[in-house]
Parts: sequence; structure tokens; C-alpha cells
Amino acid sequence: MKKITLILLSFFFAFQISAHHNDGKRKEAILLVHFGTTVPSAKVALDNIEEEVRKAFPEMEIRWAYTAKMIRKKLEKQGIHTDSPTEALAKLGEDGYTHIAVQSLHTIPGSEYHDLLRIVNSFQLMPKGTHSVTLGAPLMSKHSDVQATVDALIQNIPSERKAKEAVVLMGHGTHHEGNIYYPGLQYYLWQKDPNVFVGSVEGFPVLDDVIVGLKKNKVKTVWLIPFMSVAGVHTEEDMIGEGSDSWKNILESKGYKVKSVIKGTAEYDNIVNIWVDHLKGAYKELQKL
Ligand code: CO
Repeated sequence: MKKITLILLSFFFAFQISAHHNDGKRKEAILLVHFGTTVPSAKVALDNIEEEVRKAFPEMEIRWAYTAKMIRKKLEKQGIHTDSPTEALAKLGEDGYTHIAVQSLHTIPGSEYHDLLRIVNSFQLMPKGTHSVTLGAPLMSKHSDVQATVDALIQNIPSERKAKEAVVLMGHGTHHEGNIYYPGLQYYLWQKDPNVFVGSVEGFPVLDDVIVGLKKNKVKTVWLIPFMSVAGVHTEEDMIGEGSDSWKNILESKGYKVKSVIKGTAEYDNIVNIWVDHLKGAYKELQKL
């Protein structure tokens, strides 16, 4: 008798919970959100992310969105349509997906990430649309993320690089307060290797700050490596470009021998797995909703 009551009760609660979720039709999906790129060769990095996410979530519906409007417009002119996060979430809702784990593929929590957070929050309990949406943090968020990022970055330095040769990572940087992650990263990097530097194109530290360190360490050879998920326009122009203001040309004009690596961080599985871990966290959160 007791057993039957328990079974009946659990049926009752299961029904109650599922009834609350869009007439019981719970459908889950993953939305991967990247800044976007127009450089076709940089796409290998995004394909690698999808491959790793697919390994972690073999049966799941996986969709993409780009946060950069300028990039989406450029791609549209080439006949390639990419959704914004808002469009992608609206379409998922239309297609009957009720529970979505969104993963930010940004490097730091800057303005792109905070905009995404607002969008994600606005898609909770959408009538006839998405019921619950959770968001995974960008690459560097917690203390342990920065440590994991540093370990991966150091592992990924080409083995030909000698200890007295410097590594200069070129980050994006931002005017947003989230830029603090770059000087933060530098602190963690120096604990592992005093000859690994991080600079940024649009934030702090700038290349001049890096050069102060190169001089202090009496460096002669510099390895330039992108610290951006894709080796796109910034790598092609700002890092190794023909112009006199590219990092390669500035460093060479100051007498440094420059070697460069043309690979985005998302081409390395050890970096991608940090994002995938964050996505697993967002998916776990989704299970409570
Ligand atoms: Co940029």
C-alpha cells in the first residue's frame, strides 16, 4: 500500500513538474556564441570548438550565433547568414526548444559577454518560446580558469622556443572594465615563466609596456603568438601585417628577431576544453530548471 502511494505521488509530481515546462515537452539545445570572423582560414578554430562540444554532447542540437553586427553584415553580403544571439534564441523558441545552455566563446567578460548576459536573461519564461536559458562564462572568469588558461598557453608554445627567447601573446583588449583580465593573466604567466608576456591591441598592457619587459630581460628573439580565439584580422594586420605599425615590424625595427605562430587559441583542445567545462556547468544548472 505504502509503495503504491509513493509511486502515485511520484507520478503526480513528475506530471506537475513537466506540466510547468511548456506542456511537458522539454527540449534541450546548446547555443555557442562567438564574436564572429570574416576570415575563412580562421574558421578552423570555430570548427574545432564544435567538434569538442559534439564530443561532450553527442545527441544535442547545437547552434551558433555571432555577437558582432559588423561581421554578420559583412558575411550577409557574401551570402552567408549568421544569427545574432537574439535571433538564435527566438528561433530555438519557435522550434520548440525550451531549455537552452548558452556558451560564451569570448576570452574575457567584457562588453560582448555582458550584452549576451542581458539577452540570455530576457529569454527566460518566454510565452510560447524558451523556458530557461543558462549561460556559461567566457574563457577566463574564475581564478582557476586563469590558472588553466596559463597552463594551456604554456603547453602550446612551440617546443623550438628556447627559455631565453620571449613569447609575446597578442590579446584583443577592451575599454570595458573586464580588461583587467589581461594584466591579471600577466601576473599568473610570470609565476610560470618570466619571459612570457601579454599585450593587447585595444586595451592595457600595450606593446610598449611589453617592450619594457623585453629590455629588462635582455631578450633578443621574440615569438609572437595570438591570444585570441581565432587567428583573424587582428593576427593578419596588427600582429604580422605589412604596415609599419604591426607588432612584428615594430619589434624588428627595434632589433628583435621575430618568429610567429598563426593559430587562434580555439585551435588548441586544451583551451577549448576550458570553454567546454563552462558549458557543462551551464548545462548542469539547466537541469535544475
Ligand atoms: Co577587434
